[in-house]
Amino acid sequence: MNHLEELIRASKSKVKIIVTDAVFSMDGDIANIPHLINLCEAYDAYLYIDDAHGFGVLGELGHGILEQFDIRSERIIYIGTLGKAAGVSGAFVCAQAPFIDWLIQKGRPYIYSTATPPAIAHALLKSLAIIESEEGKTRRRQLNQLITHWQNEMHFSDWEKVASCTPIQPVILGSNANALAAAKLLNEMGYWIPAIRPPTVPAGSARLRITFSANHSIEELKNLIQALQKIEQQVQVGKLA
Ligand SMILES: Cc1ncc(COP(=O)(O)O)c(C=O)c1O
Repeated sequence: MNHLEELIRASKSKVKIIVTDAVFSMDGDIANIPHLINLCEAYDAYLYIDDAHGFGVLGELGHGILEQFDIRSERIIYIGTLGKAAGVSGAFVCAQAPFIDWLIQKGRPYIYSTATPPAIAHALLKSLAIIESEEGKTRRRQLNQLITHWQNEMHFSDWEKVASCTPIQPVILGSNANALAAAKLLNEMGYWIPAIRPPTVPAGSARLRITFSANHSIEELKNLIQALQKIEQQVQVGKLA
């Protein structure tokens, strides 16, 4: 945040935009939106938020990061994607009318691409209704139970769990070889958990990227925890690092 403030203070740009993920897709942690909005206020900037992993998941109604922080601001350009929690494809932009007008006139992929087909739009309306419904709330409660259980019960001897409060829960193994070996062993046990390696993540922080779904049960999570503990021993004995 200090570095960001230094940069934005020094910027001579007429239009300043801070760009951030809401939920960081490789660590699962959440951007400090209140602090970022304060910086935007102080330095007359816009805040562009990509809430791909928060929309449908965060907030009581699933409206995403802005609902979670209870923030509204004319400075926000909010992007939600529809291929994740909403289960279809495409994305949407929310911002003040002049910005949206500008986007309609100047956004070349928007002007020159085929519009969303009616069937997808209809499926999306159904998704939005589910996200806001009791069923949606139940799904988010289930996700939060999985997250809490994982954070409380997953203990490694050497590998590192990240303090994430979202369904993205990485396990840092360090070396690429260990991450690949662990992903392979998990796959043989019926788990599809990808090994994420540099340059997608910083050097030396290769990881297993675990993603919970509301369809997972606590029983299944308990089994995963046991499997991971066993695999950690196996990979360490194999000295693959
Ligand atoms: C943070 C973030 N934004 C945007 C996207 C792209 O979403 P889509 O594939 O729906 O265009 C992704 C995809 O994983 C993402 O992680």
